[in-house]
Amino acid sequence: MKKLEDYVLSIPDFPEPGVIFRDVTSILQDADGLKLAIDELQNLLEGVDFDVIVGTESRGFIFGVPIAYNLHKPFVPIRKKGKLPRETISRTYNLEYGTATIEMHKDDIKPGQRVVLVDDLIATGGTIEACAKMVEQQGAKVEKIIFLMELAGLKGRDKLKGYDVASVIRYE
Ligand code: PRP
Ligand code: ADE
Repeated sequence: MKKLEDYVLSIPDFPEPGVIFRDVTSILQDADGLKLAIDELQNLLEGVDFDVIVGTESRGFIFGVPIAYNLHKPFVPIRKKGKLPRETISRTYNLEYGTATIEMHKDDIKPGQRVVLVDDLIATGGTIEACAKMVEQQGAKVEKIIFLMELAGLKGRDKLKGYDVASVIRYE
């Protein structure tokens, strides 16, 4: 039987020289790969008590929503700047390639809620750190952070000290 890593294509020098791009679309295009990805990511939440899943545009949506659906929890999106219609809070941060600004609706998360953050991948950790800070700015608690893929060499976990972090596939 194929393992999840067998579905991932690695593309050298995309989107810029020196980056090895771990292509999540190669998992999604196979029905077995898609099911395995969601199941294995969801398994990381076994025994975790939480209220809401937060995922960030766009690949965080792909995995966050089905897990929220399966576990009958709400899903709150964090979006790239300028997409959300109501009052927002925002953060700007650095990526493995470039910078980004993300936003979330001001009252989508309530003080005291226990939040699980979901994304497809951690590289430098800039995105997920910004997400965690926004959740905390709303008075909520980050209960757990889960990724399908972790690019350990980029040391993203160094930005997440004090959080409970887990990933399915780890690339050195
Ligand atoms: C990718 C990925 C993570 C982030 C990881 O998203 O889905 O969210 O980069 O990088 P970091 O750990 O260095 O912050 P990207 O910003 O490329 O947007 P996309 O999901 O819309 O492709
Ligand atoms: N997002 C940031 N770095 C990435 C990488 N190397 N592969 C896929 N997505 C990424």
